This record gives sequence, structure tokens and C-alpha cells, in this order.
Amino acid sequence: MTASTHPDLTKIDLTDASVWEQGTPHEWLDILRSEDPVHWHPESDGQGFWALTRHADVHQVSTSPGQFSSYAQGPLRLDPAPDSLEQMRMIIIGMDPPDHRTFRGLVSKAFTPKTMSDLADSLRAETARVVGELREKNNCEFVTEVAARIPMWSISELMGVPEADRHRLYELSHALIDDQDPEVAPTPETSMEASVEIFGYASEMAIRERANPSGSLTSLLLEAEVDGRKLTDFEFTLFFMFLIVAGNETTRTASSHGLLTLLDHPDAMQRLVQDPSLMPGAVEEILRWEPPIHHFRRTATADLDLGGKRIAAGDKVLMWYPGSNRDPAVFEDPHTFRIDRTPNAQQSFGIGEHFCLGANLARLSLRLLFTELLGTVENIQLAAPPRRLHSNLINGIKEMQITYDVRER
Ligand code: HEM
Repeated sequence: MTASTHPDLTKIDLTDASVWEQGTPHEWLDILRSEDPVHWHPESDGQGFWALTRHADVHQVSTSPGQFSSYAQGPLRLDPAPDSLEQMRMIIIGMDPPDHRTFRGLVSKAFTPKTMSDLADSLRAETARVVGELREKNNCEFVTEVAARIPMWSISELMGVPEADRHRLYELSHALIDDQDPEVAPTPETSMEASVEIFGYASEMAIRERANPSGSLTSLLLEAEVDGRKLTDFEFTLFFMFLIVAGNETTRTASSHGLLTLLDHPDAMQRLVQDPSLMPGAVEEILRWEPPIHHFRRTATADLDLGGKRIAAGDKVLMWYPGSNRDPAVFEDPHTFRIDRTPNAQQSFGIGEHFCLGANLARLSLRLLFTELLGTVENIQLAAPPRRLHSNLINGIKEMQITYDVRER
């Protein structure tokens, strides 16, 4: 065998944020999937982890919360400090069954199809307003002027956040999650200060809503009861903080990558302009192509076998969604972008126990955004190379300058 048939897997470092900043390292993910799909990956800042790149393994781990826990060490790569772990376990994404089921039952009362359909008309109007502003010129910075505004608006509407507070909350959510990027969070304190400020804000909201329920998701959350139990103010505050981050960063990223991907695939863009009924499939394919989150973590609760490897109790397992989303065992021509791919079992929203509660809202937002955008402007071009986020967790784009022509009405 030659060296090229046995690539040196020790050269692969999926923790290196500067690699992800250049774009998803698909070559590495492909090599891992074909050579060692359940791969022991050392890390300089931790005990090492199992890197999963196959669709079936990501599925198995996500749907086996008893064996692969979110509670043990949270859903992020690095072990949290004891007090952060304590808080993480009070957020839905850091819980295991049975507590997770109870909590999810409580909050999903606010994410019903009815809440979503009530929001749909006003979301359509807001999207048209934001995109309509593009008519006034022939260039924009797409991330802040378009992609970021709609998710913050949706979550604020859902939660009853007044207009005047939305921009500040957006800045805080950015500083909180994108703390690997020195431009976004210049010091470790920036992220901590952001969480303290959001926390204070949410506590005041809880007091206000209890005294004077507005009928928003916030008051629904505070009033909802499962098994005779309600959310405490502290649980609400943590959930609010999580929602702001979970809803904003991800949908903004999917919108920015969606446009970038369509610019890279002008035929697909043209087909969408001619036939908007292809939009739902295009959104699924955009999510498969550029998952907004690179990975989430579980921790093994017992010694067990996974994909032919022996995993020890306490081992860290990372599910790399950009790898599983291009698994040739599930996706034909996985490296081809096809807006009419059916079925499309992309895993960007997770699977099973913790499947994204905001998936329907995110899908709706993306469909509305691209329908509106392609109907409003044409000849979209990049005015400069997009600037990506320095992060091994969020597939973010910080800046994307574009030029375009406004369509005749
Ligand atoms: C394109 C946009 C989005 C993507 C790619 C995304 C991705 C994800 C993923 C991968 C998970 C699973 C986490 C795990 O398995 O540990 C998740 C969970 C979650 N997401 Fe999203 N998300 C998006 C938008 C949203 C929005 C808009 C909201 C709310 C407004 C939201 C709220 C949640 C919540 C509450 C959970 C936790 C569910 C649970 O633990 O049971 N997400 N999301």
C-alpha cells in the first residue's frame, strides 16, 4: 500500500478554529469517514474525543440519550467548569431523560404549529420590509443588514421583547456564543459580561410578565405546567438566554451560507427564480450543505461498542454534522448541491431526543427570506471575499459584501 491510501490521520485537527475559518475541511471529514469513522481524536486542551463522521453513528448516538448523555458534561466540546456545568444542566440542551422530557413538554407548549402559523404572516411582512430596503441601493453587507435582522425579530416577537431592546440583545448573543473569535469577543470577560447582562434582562422580563402577562411565549412559558410543575424564574432566565443564542446565531448563519451557496451554484439560483415551489427542498439542501453548527457532544455513560470501537464510560463523543451530511451511504453524490434532492435526511437540526425545537421556525424563515430576496434583486455578486468566523463550533460568516440590481416591480 502506498502512503496515499493510508493518510496520516494524526495530521487532522478538527479543533483548530483557524482551519474552519478557511471553510469546512471536507477532505479531512471524508478521510475520517472512509478510514476511521469512529476516530479517536486527541486534543491539546482536553482528554481527547471520538470523532463521528457517519450518518448512522450520529443517528445512533443522538437517539440513545441513556448511553450518550448531554447531562454528564453538557453538549459542548470542552468540559465546563463545575459551576457552568451546574447551569448547563438546567438548560434543555444539557438535560437527559426523564427530566429532559418533562422540560421539553413544558417549553414545546410554546412551539406549537399554531404559534408558528400565527407568526407566519407577520414574519412574511417583516421579511418583505427588511429585504425591501435593498431597493434603495445596489449594494449591502448581507450579514448585518439582512441575515441577522430576521431571526432576532422572530425571537423577540415570540418572547415579547420590545423593539428598543432588540439590537442590544443581538450584540450580546453574538458576544456570548462567538467567543472564540477575538473580533467578536476581544477578552474572555466579554462573553461572561454578555451572559450576566442577558441574565439580568431576562429576570426583569420574568418579573414583568408575571405581574402583567402579555400572552407572548414568555408568559406561556412562565404559566405552563407539566406534572404539576412550573418553570422557576431561574430556569426561565437560562432558557431565554439559550433561545436568544440558539435561534439567532444558527438562522443568521444558514441565511448567509444560503446566499453564498446559491452564488456558487448559479444554475440552482436560476431554477429557484423560475420555480419558487422548489424552495422547501432548496432550504433542506442548504442546511445539508453548510450546517450552521459544526458539532455537538455527548458523553458515554457506560462502556459500549460503537461502529466497531470500544468506547469507555466517560468518553467524549463529537458528532460532526458536516461529515454526516455528506455520507455517501445516505446521500447520492454527496458533494453535489441539488435543490431537488429527495429524500434529504440532513442532520443539521440534530436528531431524536434533542431535535431542534426551532426547526420549523428556521425553515419558514429561510424559505421566506430566499423567496423575497430572489424576487426583489438579481445579478447578485460578491463585492469582496466573505469573512468567516474563527470558530470550530459555529459555521459563521461575519461579513459578506454584495452588489446587485433591483428587479423591476
Ligand atoms: C437553521 C437554524 C437552526 C439550526 C441549524 C439549529 C440546530 C440545532 C441542533 C443541531 C440542535 C440539537 C442539539 C443537540 O442534539 O444537542 C438544536 C436544538 C435546539 N434548538 Fe435549534 N437550530 C436552529 C434554529 C433554532 C431556532 C430558530 C430556535 C428557537 C427559536 C432553536 C431552538 C432550539 C432548542 C430550544 C433546542 C434544544 C432542544 C432540546 O434540547 O430538546 N433552534 N438546534
